[in-house]
Amino acid sequence: MNVTVHGRTRHFRTVTFDAGRNAVRLIEQRLLPHEFRIVATRDFRQTARAITDMVVRGAGAIGATAAYGLAQGAHAFRGRRLADFQRHMGVVSRALKAARPTAVDPANAIHYVSQFMRRGRTIAERQALALAAAEEFASADVRHCEAIGRHGARLIRSGMNVLTHCNAGWLAFVDIGSATAPLYAAQAQGRKFHVYCDETRPRSQGATLTAWELAQQGISHQVIADNAAGHLMQRGKIDLVIVGSDRTLGRTGEVANKIGTYTKAVLAGRHGIPFYVAIPLSTIDWELKSGRDIPIEERHEEEVLGAWGVPAGAGRARAGRRAYVRVANPTSGALNPGFDVTPAELITGIITPVGILKPSELWARRRELGWAG
Ligand code: MRU
Repeated sequence: MNVTVHGRTRHFRTVTFDAGRNAVRLIEQRLLPHEFRIVATRDFRQTARAITDMVVRGAGAIGATAAYGLAQGAHAFRGRRLADFQRHMGVVSRALKAARPTAVDPANAIHYVSQFMRRGRTIAERQALALAAAEEFASADVRHCEAIGRHGARLIRSGMNVLTHCNAGWLAFVDIGSATAPLYAAQAQGRKFHVYCDETRPRSQGATLTAWELAQQGISHQVIADNAAGHLMQRGKIDLVIVGSDRTLGRTGEVANKIGTYTKAVLAGRHGIPFYVAIPLSTIDWELKSGRDIPIEERHEEEVLGAWGVPAGAGRARAGRRAYVRVANPTSGALNPGFDVTPAELITGIITPVGILKPSELWARRRELGWAG
């Protein structure tokens, strides 16, 4: 998407690869919205750490980062024997896969790149194929988000108030975003609407990232406290909910997404408000049979006990002075599950690159949706 920083507008992708330096280039998302900076990881371990530490985050973006990380690991190999190369690639894959557990996109990305790479007969061929596959994975992510926008735009009418949770915008993907794609497409078609961004504690991706994206795109929006949505729904102030997903089960239609999504789905159900989930194909898990089997990431308690930000009114002069402040009682601990699972019956539709489907249709249309059998 286009980003205006210090008065200059340029197009950026969230994740790219610098083949000359064998480096993965990432927007440093922890600094946003106060500072826009690109960072580069120099080896696959740094790339895995950037995923764990949430320099880059969001299912599609960490999927593409893992794909590039695999290509990066392949290119760094200096041995001569194919068997040693394959062993090395096993180490790289495991490090990238373990970086964060809930989103399935990194696992799907690693599977895709690894399969593609095996077509090469020599190490050099496999190294070249790894990069080609990673580039294709990233490009597919963009194409899928474009298609989500085309299918989802019809849900957004002028005058609507739309609620979204966390950040399933372009920062969570390579470009465009999943939940935001219908918004951007509707805006391009001239429709005017308003978006409520759930703050999304504890890491505040809604208040920081989604709000920044929408501001950059000139879309009318307000940040609301996570607890405000029920009240707004009761007063008729929310017409539609669109969220993303980190793992959607192809067999059951259950959706893992940022903690608090389930609460919003229950509230939307209670108030008869349509609740949509937008996903590229890389977010579908065809293996798991139940949402209870989805690994839910538990993050550090400091995320709940405090918050990061810059001193109020600091502006550009203090950019980068990001500080953590303790909010909770100093002697208390916290529990911090990062995701929850929304059952299929609370979901009105899943906006996919092939159209808007009922959750139960995922399995019925699995071949079209990339199920490999
Ligand atoms: O912990 P994060 O920020 O990586 O969480 C991912 C998310 O942003 C959300 O769960 C999002 O809605 C889905 S990712 C496309």
